[in-house]
Amino acid sequence: MKRQVLASEQSEKLFEQICDYLLERIRRGEWKPHEKLPSVRALAAQFQVHRLTVFKAYQLLKQNGNVYVKDKSGYFVQPGNKWSMGADHDPIVSAYVQESHLSEIHQVQAAYQFSKALLDPNLLPNLYFSEYVKKVFDLYPKVLGTYSTTQGDEELREALCRYFTEEYRFYLSPEELLISSGSQEAIDLIARVLVKPRDAVLIERPTYSPAIDVFRREGAAIVPVEIGRDGYDLGEVERLMKTHKPRLFYLNPTFHNPTGYTVPAEQRKRLAEIAQEYQCLLIEDDPYRDIYFGEKPPLPIFSYDTSGTVIYIRSFSKYVGPGLGIATVACRPSIMKLLIRAKSLADSGTPLLNQKIFLHYFFSSRMQQHLEKLRIALSVRKEIMEEGLSDTDWQWSSPQGGFNLWVRLPESVRMDFLLAKSIEQSITFVPGSICDPQRELDSWMRVSYSFLNEQQLRDGIKRLVGVYRELPQSCDA
Ligand SMILES: Cc1ncc(COP(=O)(O)O)c(C=O)c1O
Repeated sequence: MKRQVLASEQSEKLFEQICDYLLERIRRGEWKPHEKLPSVRALAAQFQVHRLTVFKAYQLLKQNGNVYVKDKSGYFVQPGNKWSMGADHDPIVSAYVQESHLSEIHQVQAAYQFSKALLDPNLLPNLYFSEYVKKVFDLYPKVLGTYSTTQGDEELREALCRYFTEEYRFYLSPEELLISSGSQEAIDLIARVLVKPRDAVLIERPTYSPAIDVFRREGAAIVPVEIGRDGYDLGEVERLMKTHKPRLFYLNPTFHNPTGYTVPAEQRKRLAEIAQEYQCLLIEDDPYRDIYFGEKPPLPIFSYDTSGTVIYIRSFSKYVGPGLGIATVACRPSIMKLLIRAKSLADSGTPLLNQKIFLHYFFSSRMQQHLEKLRIALSVRKEIMEEGLSDTDWQWSSPQGGFNLWVRLPESVRMDFLLAKSIEQSITFVPGSICDPQRELDSWMRVSYSFLNEQQLRDGIKRLVGVYRELPQSCDA
């Protein structure tokens, strides 16, 4: 092992690095199941650290089922797939495991991609969008040669402030908004600046899968909060805040991904109060708010925040176009300063061209007309999907907005087997376990109705149900 890897002076860090070193080699198969691992003395000499530091690392691996001890003989590699289990469950070790489960599924080439919670490109306003691009070049001839400020274009931030005040009673100044290249980047920046290894982080169960991966990467101890049709059990949320003293709670309370549930208005106000009481930041991720099929959803939790406890992330990728990659983060100045610093290390601001195009397009009347048509098109697609599933024994709660159906299959079904068979038939979906911080929810799947056109939806669902019906008895009985 390279000496500089262990250059840190803090023994906490050394201990984490030794865990990482051992796990990485077990994972790569350099040490096989039941093989003896280097002694505490040898590792301590190799890394020039105290023996207790190595001992502590071995104890943690033992606790996680990665290694076992034989009396007086030392530590041995535990057989079986315990490595990833340990990494998933342990906040320190998992800090070094960089995973992105959802993107792996998205990489599968398939004709029927129910895994993609993205808009069908044919529903995007490609035809007249080019007019706005031209307008931007006419208005700002130097735009292509100019960086944005790290915080984002001021003209756009001012326009968003006015919009948020009118729509949701946010009272903000442009200094309290940051423009990011999508909400994924915003979640990543927030995790980088606010979360340290072993910090407790509350996350909904199920949730937007990449958020789990991001907080795990920072070494957070993930504490799941169940979300149901009626929102959260606030008594339980309060208990979790009291017990775990979490740094933050990441939530997506409006047309939640993957379930489509919306947390009722009464709970939003109370949640802001509880969070303030326990000094737990609420990270409200709100990309689906405008995709409603009936009534408008309740106001964001941010609207009820009087103490700067809520950080609001609003992406526009979902319906203005992921190709533009525009989102905004609203938060109090002390956190804003940290976010700007972190973003300045990642890029030189979200591309100015994209921000200006977004500004002129988003606030146009055409955009609003387009959005109305979009809501109708998506609710029709949702109904087509529901109709295709209507004579199965699957269960779901019909969402009033968003892109996804969260579907429960009989418990006997092996979801990994169904996915493998579906991929053979050129179909993808998201297995529920990917959306679960505890990697359970094996009887659930997320199927998106937003990406395929109406005919593809009919054909694809028929095919998916066909694959399910063909499953051998041993897999669904
Ligand atoms: C809840 C949630 N947050 C964040 C994102 C990422 O959005 P963006 O494209 O703005 O990065 C998604 C995309 O599916 C999402 O569903």
